[in-house]
Amino acid sequence: MFNKARAKLLSFNFKFIRRTVIVIFSRWPKDLERAITIGDSLNHILMISPLRYFFKFKIPKNIDTKLYNLSFPSPLIAASFKDDISSLYQWQLVGLGGMTYKTVLKRPSEGNKRPRIQEIKYNGGYGLINSLGLPTKGVEYFANHFQNKKLLSFNRPIGISIGGNRVEEYLEVFNTINSKVKNASFDQFFYELNISCPNTDDGKCLSDDMEGLLILLNKMRESCSNVIVVKVSPDSTQDNMFKICEALVNVDRCAINLGNTKYITAESVGLNKKTFSKDGGGLSGVGLFDMTSRNVELIASNFDIPIIATGGISTYKDVKLVLEKGATLVGMASQLVIDPFQIPQINSKLSDEK
Ligand SMILES: Cc1cc2nc3c(=O)[nH]c(=O)nc-3n(C[C@H](O)[C@H](O)[C@H](O)COP(=O)(O)O)c2cc1C
Repeated sequence: MFNKARAKLLSFNFKFIRRTVIVIFSRWPKDLERAITIGDSLNHILMISPLRYFFKFKIPKNIDTKLYNLSFPSPLIAASFKDDISSLYQWQLVGLGGMTYKTVLKRPSEGNKRPRIQEIKYNGGYGLINSLGLPTKGVEYFANHFQNKKLLSFNRPIGISIGGNRVEEYLEVFNTINSKVKNASFDQFFYELNISCPNTDDGKCLSDDMEGLLILLNKMRESCSNVIVVKVSPDSTQDNMFKICEALVNVDRCAINLGNTKYITAESVGLNKKTFSKDGGGLSGVGLFDMTSRNVELIASNFDIPIIATGGISTYKDVKLVLEKGATLVGMASQLVIDPFQIPQINSKLSDEK
């Protein structure tokens, strides 16, 4: 009872502060990234102060789930979109069962030109459009920092998302990280392949290259026993998704993540060259939910493969529906930045239902 009231109060305060930061810092000129940078700094201060204990919520004992050898105390996990330790730490405190680091590439990259992320309305709901272009500090930096003590202390699974322009690049990134993962005492790391890559020179990516994907999966499997998740775009055709699943069922300990952001044009959501530097970008937020739910049902009814449902999940009802349709885990991105205090509330309802 006390925890429910605390979550609701924190939720109200968080949403108020977030909206204030957005109104002050991202309206003139219109660029959400300035508000994100300020919000991350405020959060960092909060997370190193004793006030962080107000954010701590216990995960009820009866909602744990497994993905092969990985033990998640809650089925809710952070999707791959942040590598800022304070944010990831905050979401573990509020009760996520695990997390995934933002996609790492071989070389450091600034990503695309700003403005490259904006708030939008899509089908009447809140959403984001982004064309960040995978900014990353590169694999050398990542390999020296991903075993963060604060994050490992939760002893919950941690996903490492890998991207690249070619199979060889994915492999180089994987090999660099795996040399550290292999020797780590923490055994709850898993890999996620982000195969819907926006940065390729020839416009092609691994989701169109089944032969390349299979080579990569087999080479990874030869060198490690960690769970491998493949994250697909909701823009994939049914045929393409089925081919990916056929590849996955033939490799040990694999899962599919449905899915990434959906491509939309900037113009279709009222943005222009001044407010969005690219012609289009990836939609995230509640507008994706129907598609996520349909895709979970489609894959669960055709393949025996664990599913992570990601895209537009924001409420207990959404979580319950995708779990009923066959998902093992539920990934969240947008909802974590809008209101992370939904997490303890969803955990508590999942527990009451059991
Ligand atoms: C700002 C931003 C950055 C993202 N970066 C990545 C990324 O690096 N790798 C990845 O696989 N997905 C990335 N995503 C996609 C999310 O992981 C998630 O699949 C998508 O946002 C849909 O979930 P949501 O509706 O809960 O936000 C990003 C999304 C956003 C909004």
